[in-house]
Amino acid sequence: MGDGDLSFSNAIRNHVNPQTLVASTYDDATTIEQKYQNNALNNLKARNVHVLNSFDVTNTACWQGLKGYLNSFDVVIFQFPLIPAFVGREAFESNTRQNSMNVLNRALLHQFIKYANEFALDPGGPMLCYITSKDVKPYREWNIEGSLNDRLNIEYCGQMQFDISHFEGYKIRNVDRDKHVKDTSGITYVFSPKNIDTHTSELSPQLTKPAYLTPNHCSLCRVGPYMASEDETKHLNAKKHQQMLHLESDWQQWLNEFYS
Ligand SMILES: C[S@@+](CC[C@H](N)C(=O)[O-])C[C@H]1O[C@@H](n2cnc3c(N)ncnc32)[C@H](O)[C@@H]1O
Repeated sequence: MGDGDLSFSNAIRNHVNPQTLVASTYDDATTIEQKYQNNALNNLKARNVHVLNSFDVTNTACWQGLKGYLNSFDVVIFQFPLIPAFVGREAFESNTRQNSMNVLNRALLHQFIKYANEFALDPGGPMLCYITSKDVKPYREWNIEGSLNDRLNIEYCGQMQFDISHFEGYKIRNVDRDKHVKDTSGITYVFSPKNIDTHTSELSPQLTKPAYLTPNHCSLCRVGPYMASEDETKHLNAKKHQQMLHLESDWQQWLNEFYS
């Protein structure tokens, strides 16, 4: 989902070669050709890989467009998701009046997980949703491993380092331009409604959960372990923590409205 120049899907085709692969992009085909000089659109089509363009993961009609592929996949992947920048101050202000960019990005990922489970994943398989993201601001402020899946019966199963060396030819694309991101470090967060131990014996040993998710830490700010209760009190009153609480509260408000 949300491939840019399709180099990721192309690398999957070349180096993993799954039984079935469907690639999708948010952009339409013309935009891809114009935006990315070296895109893999024709290459994938020539290899009979189905490519769905103009696929908006927040739009259920797009998921329904999977047609013969509905509820047939073991894994659905979204690499380095990010909503496109709004061009110009006016567009930015009107689009962020109700929800901040932080909330809009969380909403994008929440809907990706929700609809992937409803429309794309095979209930008879492991039902895996992968989100690869960067561990720096602003991405680390989306609380992916904490509250992204609130209201869904889908668990955060753990995470693994994304190793781009397995995907030769993949160029991580900047959201709006024909530039690729040089720092390729990323973390793949894994979600599933199932107990993956019983379904994918080779995956679970690779998954870890960070220490900041254990007690005596603040998982929002990723600090801890606290040495004394005063440390905790000091942290809870700190500006940084208050800002993170504010983001969480905005996120909960979006969920309330979405599910009302
Ligand atoms: C930073 S780029 C990464 C592109 C590509 N996944 C990669 O790894 O090179 C973020 C991508 O998210 C996609 N995206 C943003 N909003 C989306 C939406 N509502 N549905 C599907 N894709 C979306 C954008 O089109 C863009 O390609």
